[in-house]
Amino acid sequence: MARPEDLPRILAIESSSHVSPWSSEAFLSEMMGTQAHQRMWVVSASRGPGGIAAYVCFHYLVDQVYILNFTVAEPFRRKGLGKALLSLVLFWAERHGCDSVVLDVRSDNSPAIGLYVGAGFKKTGESKSGAGVPFSWRMLKRLTQERSQVSSGGNATT
Ligand SMILES: CC(C)(COP(=O)(O)OP(=O)(O)OC[C@H]1O[C@@H](n2cnc3c(N)ncnc32)[C@H](O)[C@@H]1OP(=O)(O)O)[C@@H](O)C(=O)NCCC(=O)NCCS
Repeated sequence: MARPEDLPRILAIESSSHVSPWSSEAFLSEMMGTQAHQRMWVVSASRGPGGIAAYVCFHYLVDQVYILNFTVAEPFRRKGLGKALLSLVLFWAERHGCDSVVLDVRSDNSPAIGLYVGAGFKKTGESKSGAGVPFSWRMLKRLTQERSQVSSGGNATT
């Protein structure tokens, strides 16, 4: 779970990772968890607030998890951490009875799209900029299908 003392490091990672970084207020709202469906997890590489390697914010409503923010700090990228953290979210969603996991990703963010496609997400829609250029993709991974494949003896690996 994220703690307020992690905020300075999280904001530094956020501003160097995203075109439109979240504000401290946005993170505080997720961390304080004023809504029961909010979750923010932090991966620490070492003790203390300086050791944050990754974080994820997600909401879950009834049968769906929506990932709002998914970030791996630059020094920790391309080591499998993103894949591992995403697997944890998918596992959590399945354990909580969700049918699907959804997120929005910028259409030019090929590292993130590669991560999500590799985990079994599929593009289900897109929003366009003012000039009509695709701006972001809505991507979804169904979990119920995997459950039925498991129960019918199929290969559930994504
Ligand atoms: C996208 C991001 C989370 C990936 O995290 P990561 O820990 O580097 O990812 P992993 O090492 O687990 O890689 C998993 C897969 O992602 C894809 N990927 C990750 N980085 C990539 C890159 N630089 N170029 C191409 N594909 C990449 C690959 O498919 C990779 O699988 P592979 O190693 O078998 O090729 C990370 O780059 C990041 O935080 N970027 C900035 C913030 C961001 O864009 N977040 C997503 C917003 S929707």
